[in-house]
Amino acid sequence: MARLDGKSVLITGAARGQGAAHARRLVEEGAGVTIADLREDEGRALAEELGEAARFATLDVTDAARWASAVESAVAAFGRLDGLVNNAGMITVHSLESATVEEWDRVIAVNQTGVFHGMRAVIPEMRKAGSGSIVNIASVVAWSGAADFYSYAVSKWAVRGMTKSAALELAEPGIRVNTVAPGEIDTEMMTDMEAQGADPPDPKVVPLGRWGAAAEVSSAIVFLLSDEASYVTGAEIGVDGGLGVGPAVGPNPQLRPPRGTAPNEGMES
Ligand SMILES: NC(=O)c1ccc[n+]([C@@H]2O[C@H](COP(=O)([O-])OP(=O)(O)OC[C@H]3O[C@@H](n4cnc5c(N)ncnc54)[C@H](O)[C@@H]3O)[C@@H](O)[C@H]2O)c1
Repeated sequence: MARLDGKSVLITGAARGQGAAHARRLVEEGAGVTIADLREDEGRALAEELGEAARFATLDVTDAARWASAVESAVAAFGRLDGLVNNAGMITVHSLESATVEEWDRVIAVNQTGVFHGMRAVIPEMRKAGSGSIVNIASVVAWSGAADFYSYAVSKWAVRGMTKSAALELAEPGIRVNTVAPGEIDTEMMTDMEAQGADPPDPKVVPLGRWGAAAEVSSAIVFLLSDEASYVTGAEIGVDGGLGVGPAVGPNPQLRPPRGTAPNEGMES
């Protein structure tokens, strides 16, 4: 039996990047998946590729009314809604001083208010079912700060707070709410940052010595959506190669053996 057999899950921002990887993996694990995104062509193409187990719903996560119809289409397709992955996000390269109010408002609207709308939109269906699992995507920068992505870092800190408060509020109806905090994951968000003039993050700064793959984040998502996580709520799982603990660079790098870029490379058996 697959780990998500019979479950219906809505994933935002699933037309590409990590969300698309999660959609693929969830279908492999037996779930029915609603791919919700602004990017209609990519989202529809992915849903078609995944076949009967997937549907596409057009959604701008900042629009509460569209949320209602996205939830309706998930329920119409799969008869229920067991899981929500609030994955849609955007990044703008700016500091506290250089951000325009419009940029600030847009990042907060998508990354923070979008999560607020999403959680509220799914609660009625999950209450009806007497259970549910919501996974909110934060970021490794929500454990520290990020001078060059001011609004992004702030919005991701908010996601952690919204998750913890929602976990307490929704425990009684049996809805679990958790955070996954990816580190440097190789998706088009990295390209978007570079297009805005930011240097790509240096893999050497990551304790495990490399960027992560979207599929590695999917594993944490599957766990939290599955019944294996039945006693896990309000938690935060970092999928960040250790970056959330601190950077790999210390004052005496010669004290450490050289690191490869592949997982487990150079480890003694
Ligand atoms: N890539 C990284 O290194 C990294 C690190 C930490 C956290 N994250 C977070 O992971 C999540 C996924 O990011 P990704 O790396 O796959 O980036 P991505 O840019 O490849 O994908 C983001 C997706 O969100 C969608 N989206 C953006 N605004 C939307 C809106 N208003 N309504 C609906 N959909 C919208 C986009 O169309 C896109 O499909 C985001 O929340 C991001 O902040 C990414």
